[in-house]
Amino acid sequence: MALPSSGGSWLASLEDEACRVLPPEVYGYYRQGARDGTTAAEAVAAWERYRLVPRVLTDTRAVDLTTSFLGTRSAVPFGVAPTTLQRAADPGGEVAMARACAAHGVPMVLSSNATATFAEIDATGATWWLQAYLPQDRELARPMLESAVEHGAGAIVLTVDTPVVGTKYDDGAIWSATPPSWLRVNLGPAADAPKARDLGPADFTWLHEVTGLPVVAKGVLSPGGAAAVVVAGAAAVWVSNHGGRQLDRAAATADCLAPVVDRVDGAVPVYVDGGVRSGITALTALALGADAFFLGRLPLYALAVAGTDGVGRLFSTLTDELTEALVLAGCPGPEAARGVARAAPDGAP
Ligand SMILES: Cc1cc2nc3c(=O)[nH]c(=O)nc-3n(C[C@H](O)[C@H](O)[C@H](O)COP(=O)(O)O)c2cc1C
Repeated sequence: MALPSSGGSWLASLEDEACRVLPPEVYGYYRQGARDGTTAAEAVAAWERYRLVPRVLTDTRAVDLTTSFLGTRSAVPFGVAPTTLQRAADPGGEVAMARACAAHGVPMVLSSNATATFAEIDATGATWWLQAYLPQDRELARPMLESAVEHGAGAIVLTVDTPVVGTKYDDGAIWSATPPSWLRVNLGPAADAPKARDLGPADFTWLHEVTGLPVVAKGVLSPGGAAAVVVAGAAAVWVSNHGGRQLDRAAATADCLAPVVDRVDGAVPVYVDGGVRSGITALTALALGADAFFLGRLPLYALAVAGTDGVGRLFSTLTDELTEALVLAGCPGPEAARGVARAAPDGAP
């Protein structure tokens, strides 16, 4: 059993801080998972089952965290995952988030349900990608996709785990408290359209033809799924269970990552999200083979606590924690971390 720590890290306290400052319906919306919330509740602990095996006699005087995200250099191996309704966390919403990203060289994936326009995000100077769901009638997405290209999106992140929106209990309060002007800002005619339940390889081709951008597949958990999206033309595979907000009892991303990395075998980068709350977990994700990882709730909580400055503090703190973890593990950078994690023996805490 883990010993209780006295004090604890700021990152670990962020959720409680956010709970204190946010209206209950907003905190509840950010935190919730689908149905019984099993997958959402397991995400953090799933990483904690892995153990790290440091390298020794390595030169870690200079730790270099710079990472290429589909050809764009970033200061760190992490980005902000797409999350809706950021304006409910802070009046600046996605723009406040993007300003922190621009200042710290962190890429941001903008939800297609964002409360800020593409032009506003572009004006911050952040590297940004558009997350998209495809409607049954694909053409309804075309205006949004073309507008994203016009305003500097660097990639399309196709979320493949959402043929329908997973049921969340107690979902009503947030939507009745949300001003209609925050919704449908960029979605155009796709706003009310049913989502596609027949995504396939042709969608990757179509998205690439419409936008000329790389297309990332977000929401893959199995090696077979990873192989399929690579064959379909995905520029990267993003291991995710949507923060536990889609299929409840979906497997933890911590456990799905390594088999996906094995199957992809370097053909394209592999990203992961879900339950990353500390530098040690970040190291574990890199050690299990992720090329980079994304943060969903943590930046929302930081935005709620202190706006752009809060998100900036999150990025600096996570960078410091990850750097320390890499040095202690004998790794001068993210790539060197590959292989320093193993599953804890059965029955170990
Ligand atoms: C409030 C909230 C809204 C989200 N909205 C989206 C979305 O619009 N599109 C999407 O692909 N994923 C969405 N996600 C999932 C995140 O992109 C990400 O997969 C997940 O939050 C990662 O887990 P973490 O929150 O533990 O870091 C959302 C997650 C949260 C918490």
